[in-house]
Amino acid sequence: MAEIDARLREDVHQLGELLGNTINAQYGAAFLGKIERIRKGAKTARRGSAAGAEQLSAALDQLNDDELLPVARAFNQFLNLANIAEQYHRIRRRGANEPEPFESRVLPELLQRLLAKGHSADALARQLGRLDIELVLTAHPTEVARRTLIQKYDAIAAQLAAQDHSDLSSAEREQVTARLQRLIAEAWHTEEIRRSRPSPVDEAKWGFAVIEHSLWQAVPSFLRKADQALQATTGLRLPLTAAPIRFASWMGGDRDGNPNVTAAVTREVLLLARWMAADLYLRDIEQLAAELSMQQANPELRAQVGDSIEPYRSLLKQLRERLRATRSWAQEALHGQPAVSPAVLQDNRELLEPLQCCYQSLHDCGMGVIADGPLLDCLRRAVTFGLFLVRLDVRQDASRHAAALDEITDYLGLGHYAEWDEEARLQFLQAELDSRRPLLPAHFKPSAETAEVLATCREVAAAPAASLGSYVISMAGAPSDVLAVQLLLKEAGLQRPMRVVPLFETLADLDQAGPVIERLLNLPGYRARLHGPQEVMIGYSDSAKDAGTTAAAWAQYRAQETLVKVCSEQQVELLLFHGRGGTVGRGGGPAHAAILSQPPGSVAGRFRTTEQGEMIRFKFGLPDIAEQNLNLYLAAVLEATLQPPPTPEPAWRELMDRLAADGVSAYRGVVREHPQFVEYFRQATPEQELGRLPLGSRPAKRRAGGVESLRAIPWIFAWTQTRLMLPAWLGWEHALANALQRGESQLLGQMREHWPFFRTRIDMLEMVLAKADGAIAELYDERLVESSLRPLGERLRDLLSQASAAVLGLTGQSQLLAHSPETLEAISVRNTYLDPLHLLQTELLARSRQRENQADSPLEQALLVSVAGIAAGLRNTG
Ligand code: PGA
Repeated sequence: MAEIDARLREDVHQLGELLGNTINAQYGAAFLGKIERIRKGAKTARRGSAAGAEQLSAALDQLNDDELLPVARAFNQFLNLANIAEQYHRIRRRGANEPEPFESRVLPELLQRLLAKGHSADALARQLGRLDIELVLTAHPTEVARRTLIQKYDAIAAQLAAQDHSDLSSAEREQVTARLQRLIAEAWHTEEIRRSRPSPVDEAKWGFAVIEHSLWQAVPSFLRKADQALQATTGLRLPLTAAPIRFASWMGGDRDGNPNVTAAVTREVLLLARWMAADLYLRDIEQLAAELSMQQANPELRAQVGDSIEPYRSLLKQLRERLRATRSWAQEALHGQPAVSPAVLQDNRELLEPLQCCYQSLHDCGMGVIADGPLLDCLRRAVTFGLFLVRLDVRQDASRHAAALDEITDYLGLGHYAEWDEEARLQFLQAELDSRRPLLPAHFKPSAETAEVLATCREVAAAPAASLGSYVISMAGAPSDVLAVQLLLKEAGLQRPMRVVPLFETLADLDQAGPVIERLLNLPGYRARLHGPQEVMIGYSDSAKDAGTTAAAWAQYRAQETLVKVCSEQQVELLLFHGRGGTVGRGGGPAHAAILSQPPGSVAGRFRTTEQGEMIRFKFGLPDIAEQNLNLYLAAVLEATLQPPPTPEPAWRELMDRLAADGVSAYRGVVREHPQFVEYFRQATPEQELGRLPLGSRPAKRRAGGVESLRAIPWIFAWTQTRLMLPAWLGWEHALANALQRGESQLLGQMREHWPFFRTRIDMLEMVLAKADGAIAELYDERLVESSLRPLGERLRDLLSQASAAVLGLTGQSQLLAHSPETLEAISVRNTYLDPLHLLQTELLARSRQRENQADSPLEQALLVSVAGIAAGLRNTG
């Protein structure tokens, strides 16, 4: 451990020095000296030195307008370089005597453990082969880094790997250093903030690029190792057709509150996915056709290629021609009307069968060692990604469907759907779902919004079933929300079943999730339309924004429990879809612990979750890192399925009820009821300014208004920047303090020890509190908040201290994260670079708020860079 840390520090130091050289080359030694003074001031100030604090603020005060931007950039880039080094050290080569990282050991160790606990080899192999995990990549606007820079960062990581060999000659070492120097200079001279918003199609392309550059390598390699681990423990192999983890996407399909995602965009993205898939397989097949020059073949292969001298090549060349035809067809379809040729691949089987045939034949003819090479990898890709690369989900807000139906019923003279109660709606919807006559009259002229809803349904109806995932309804609250979509899809001509998934995302809706699904399942005809499991999506971030994390977490847990119960009574399989963000305030946290803390029975071999924005890069951006994260998912879902956590004791539940009740009242007492809260939020945080950061294709708000109209991401983002991190903890201070006061500390301790759900919540809370910083938040107040609002700020910081005190009271430690010195060290190293950025940001916000809007001015740029830098330093945006 110590050695790894030393090497990490060396790398960080080296990258910092190379950045210094770059800055020196552009601005000279005097300027670099200023940066050094700022950094040193920040460092000693953190150690409590008043002189350091003075040096820091004096050095910042002396900066003229022109210097603000390069200073902000210097600290931002340094934090990004530190991230690269840290990330690289998670995957760097380990020497023979160094332990493998947890992520690489987790599956083999789990299999051993399960075997020792009495699970049979057969049962383990069967369950592993059957796991159905789907990671849904979304375009949630949290990625601040530009793609151009991400590519440079990846190249820097590659050079760190290249220099990590003790036997490099000095010429080789110099060469690596020169390359690093050049890459860092390239990054320095590249603007870090996008000038314009990406379009939804750009976002989808970015998602495809992650597959192309990382997952395409990571998936077969991860499966190969899972197969080896299974074989080593049980002697059994992973079936060829096993795809325990698949990928879906929201990029270009999620139109909730994003008018830029239209039916035409969805169509384009579906075609792009087909183009991309065909192109990727072509690269594989070309390589295989070059390699598989063997002559012996089994009768099945012979039957397909006759007496060809090189049977494998013959079959693969046929497949190659069909992939070419598919790619050209997709290309033409993107630009208009394509000629449909029978050669175009339409069904995954057409891709799989030739590969399987070659594979089997090689094995039959004693060439298994060849079969199990790149051919096996390609086969596994084909099973995992298929012809459509990802399954595209569609998401739309429940109110948009209701509005569409309202227009239709009004036009037909049936009255106003929007005004009907639930019973009337259900009656109408069911009758129409059962009816053979169309509902939409030929001359109906819908409003533009309704026309868009209907056009989307038509795209869904026209797309091949295997290219689509689920139709998700945000802000769902009643059975009619689901039937409404089923009816609109039927009207659009959909003739096959489609998963229509309610997303429950407020406290009230989560509490009703069980009863709503029960009612749905009992509606006549509903079960016949439900092919496969009943999917239900749990919204983590909006429920937390609505009720605070204490009550939201408990509501999410209870909703899942009831859903498990309802579906088991009704003998319907349940698929829970977890809509969580990257940060704690949006339900984020380490996936492994999170999965193991779900209610028993809720992870029964199936698991669907979102992977959002910046988290896609952090977790899946590089093949080795992606493999580690895939391992974690696989192991956690297997474990939660075979060894579910205990059912909570009644006393734990009751205490959790009390914590939640106290939590929500404290949270809402501030966020909803305090008359000055919204104004304080606006002044103390960069919320308004964040809207100017062109992060994603969608607007920051669903509609005009206060906190309630703000989406969860900018809500969390704003509080992260000031380090108050309010949404992630507010409510816990009151809930825990009350419980401790009631003398329930022993019970809390018991819950922490024996109930993974509770332990994980407290761990996450502790982590957030360790990253929060009242003193930094105070700087924002001093510089930006009018005096009448300052007492509120003071009160919130006081609550923050209370929250920390309560957690310490619970864990019995003297310092947050005392049990994890490496994390503490990482936070403290970053603070040296973050502190100047926070100070700069308060200054820039103040100056920017005094002036007219000057979009491209250096001041505005510096402000946005400070935002990006703080996000990078905390490894989180919103
Ligand atoms: P949403 O997601 O705003 O797209 O519903 C919220 C989040 O992920 O935080």
